[in-house]
Amino acid sequence: MDTASELQATVKAMVQPGKGLLAADESGPTIAKRFATIGVESNEENRRAWRSLLLSTPGLGAHISGVILYEETLGQRADDGTPLPELCARQGILPGIKVDKGKVPLMNAPGDEITEGLDGLPKRLEAYRQQGARFAKWRAVINVSDTLPGALAVQANAQVLAAYAAICQASGIVPIVEPEVLMDGDHSMARCAAVTERVLHAVFHALHRHGVVFEHMVLKPSMVIAGKKCPQQASVQDVAAETVRVLKRTVPAAVPGIFFLSGGQTPEQATANLDAMNRLGPLPWPLSFSYGRALQEPPLAAWRGQAANLVQAQRALLKRSLLNGKACAGQYEVAQESMKGA
Ligand code: 13P
Repeated sequence: MDTASELQATVKAMVQPGKGLLAADESGPTIAKRFATIGVESNEENRRAWRSLLLSTPGLGAHISGVILYEETLGQRADDGTPLPELCARQGILPGIKVDKGKVPLMNAPGDEITEGLDGLPKRLEAYRQQGARFAKWRAVINVSDTLPGALAVQANAQVLAAYAAICQASGIVPIVEPEVLMDGDHSMARCAAVTERVLHAVFHALHRHGVVFEHMVLKPSMVIAGKKCPQQASVQDVAAETVRVLKRTVPAAVPGIFFLSGGQTPEQATANLDAMNRLGPLPWPLSFSYGRALQEPPLAAWRGQAANLVQAQRALLKRSLLNGKACAGQYEVAQESMKGA
C-alpha cells in the first residue's frame, strides 16, 4: 500500500461513529501522580498490570477505536505473554504512541513552555511502526493568564506541532495534533476562548505552511472552558456553544475528526460537554473524545492496585467508554450515570 492509502486507512479506523480514543500514554512522572491517588507505587510491573487491565477490558472495542500508548507499554506483555499492542489489535483497537518528550521552559518567554522531541523522530517512528503503532500524539501546552501566552509561545508551539505532523505523515503515521490550552488558573471562559482561537489559527496556518495533509491528521483540542479557579464557571450549554464557535472559526472542514482531551474536567463533566456539542449539529467534523483522566479515574479508583478488583475496574472503564460513545451522537442522558457498570 502506498503511504497516502495507508494514512487514509488509519484515519478511517480511528474515526468511527460512536467511538473515541483512550489516552493511556502518561509519562513516568504523570503515571506516578495518578497511582499516588490510590496509594500504588509506580514501578514497571504495576504500570504493566494497569495497562493490561485497561486493554483487556472485554467489549472495549465497541466504544474505543484507538489507544494512545507510552513507549514502555509498546514493548510490554499481558500475563499470558501477548504483547500489549496485540491485545489492542485483537479487540479491533488501533495502537498509537505518544512521541513528544514533554515540555520545558521557552527561553526569553517567562511562564511559557515548548514541547521537545523532534530530534531523531523519523527513526523512532520507524521502530514504533514495527511494534504496531499506526498513529502518534504530540502535546503542546499553552499556559493562560492575563498576559500568557506570549506571541512567541503561540508561534513556536504551532511550528513544532506542524513539523512533527509532517514527519509523521512522511513515515506513514497519522499525527494527532494536540494544542492544549490549560484549565489551570483563574481566567474566564472568554479569555480561554480568545486564547484558543489564537492558538488554533496559528496551528492551522503552520500545518498549511509545512504541507501537512488535513485529511490525514486528527485534532485533539481542549474545550473552551473557564479556568479551574475562576469563580464564574460556565454552564454545559455555554461551554458547548463557545467551543463549537471557536472550532468553526479555525478548523478546516477537511479535518476528518476532532477528539477532545479532558484536561482536568470530571468524567461526568467531560461526557456532558461532549454530548452538548454534538446536540448542536450538524457540524463540519465528527466530535469525539480522547480522554485520559476522564476515562481512567473511575477504573483506577475501583482497581486500587488489587488484582481482585480487575473486573470492577474494567466495568468502570467500559461504562465511561459507552457513555462517551453516546455523547458522540448527542444521546447521553445524566440518568445513564446511575447504571451499574455496563
Ligand atoms: P486528559 O484527558 O487527562 O487531559 O489526557 C488526555 C491527554 O492525552 C493529554 O495529553
